[in-house]
Amino acid sequence: MSSIVVTGGVPLHGSLRIPGAKNAVLPILAATLLAKAPVRLLDCPRLADVDNMLEILRRLGCDTQWEGDELLVDPTNAHCYVMPESLSKELRSSIFLLGPVLARFGRAVVTYPGGCEIGLRPIDLHLSGLRALNVHINEAFGRIVCDGRSLEGADIHLDYPSVGATENVMMAAVAAQGWTKIHNAAREPEICDLQNFLCALGYKIRGAGTSSVYIEGGRTDARQITYRIMPDRINAGTFLCAAAMTGGDVTLYNVEPRHITCALAKLREAACELDVRENAIRITAPKRPKEIALIETLPYPGFPTDMQALFFSLCTVASGTSVIVENVFENRFKHASELMRMGAMVTVKDRTAVIRGVERLTGAHVCARDLRGGAALVLAGLRAQGCTQVANAEHIDRGYEMFETRLSQLGAQIRRADDGMIYEQNGR
Ligand code: UD1
Repeated sequence: MSSIVVTGGVPLHGSLRIPGAKNAVLPILAATLLAKAPVRLLDCPRLADVDNMLEILRRLGCDTQWEGDELLVDPTNAHCYVMPESLSKELRSSIFLLGPVLARFGRAVVTYPGGCEIGLRPIDLHLSGLRALNVHINEAFGRIVCDGRSLEGADIHLDYPSVGATENVMMAAVAAQGWTKIHNAAREPEICDLQNFLCALGYKIRGAGTSSVYIEGGRTDARQITYRIMPDRINAGTFLCAAAMTGGDVTLYNVEPRHITCALAKLREAACELDVRENAIRITAPKRPKEIALIETLPYPGFPTDMQALFFSLCTVASGTSVIVENVFENRFKHASELMRMGAMVTVKDRTAVIRGVERLTGAHVCARDLRGGAALVLAGLRAQGCTQVANAEHIDRGYEMFETRLSQLGAQIRRADDGMIYEQNGR
């Protein structure tokens, strides 16, 4: 176990390139099973979640190899359709393998997935979507045994625009007989990235980015493709919030501003100046951000739940009172009590948090409970007076590549410490 130790009070300055998106690369890695030849992925972030996914792919028989930040996946010798239990439990995204494994082998055995504990995160929509494609599913003893040897295209209406369920159905449907239409599909940019990847492999899909996705089932030829993963919009939001919290002046490259219009609007409301270019954003922040009247998380294009904790942190030091409503996951305010240990004034009731901004946070020993909440605590530490130690930093490693290195490039006083190292007391 390790911690991230931050000494606050330094405004962030400088520029940073945003890496490829975790939430795009995970389904795309699963989709490499649908390739008939080796695939080269560019801008692939090196994250704990990516390592886990690669380990699962290797157990299924794929070859994987890093060349710098390029990743080669050769799925041609994949032969196994049983997902390893221990790894699947660690990684929620292992459920993405269900669709492509079924498409490739006609069968799949998975374990109920793990991942961040931010709510129930059921997989009923994944399973009902697959059932509609004529997959026979038996659930027993924590395992899901699927028979999809005669996949048939279908009209599928998702009760909720689940990102994972949309992606899973897309990947299974490429091998189904005939057309599949997904209604009320999720519209996240990562779905477009998956569609682009599948189209590059030769499959016929359209509609991603809208509520209706159309997939024509059929075979594809062996194509050796090179594919660049889209920039990570949540990483971009994180570093923008970090700059906003510290009164910094930071330029981000390799960003897609149209993917984060909601976040940019909220940063403007917080009195940050933004210079938005085609693939770059410069943020110049005031000494103290203004309050944000209301943030409500929603499926895309609404405000992303994955940025909620980061903006929560920002609101703790705003000059007035902000309100945040979390509509997507039911247990995503775990960072609130940790931020209160640093002096934040917060009231949480059900899915609503009221945050009264304070002039000053103070460094404390806090604990990351999930990925984005952990990053939010680091951001609070950047602003706080004195030293903050964020324990359980492994949560943060699931979604941020070299988080503390990137922040220190912007001037932050930050380092990694193995647990057991002596905690530097505030003020020393
Ligand atoms: C993906 C993202 C995650 C993000 C989330 C919402 C990846 C790897 N992860 O997760 O970072 O926070 O989208 O933007 O892309 N639900 C059901 N039944 C299901 C599936 C989902 O009830 O079968 C519910 C969930 O409990 C949750 C909501 O739908 O309340 C949204 O979940 P979903 O869109 O599926 O998120 P993920 O794909 O898990």
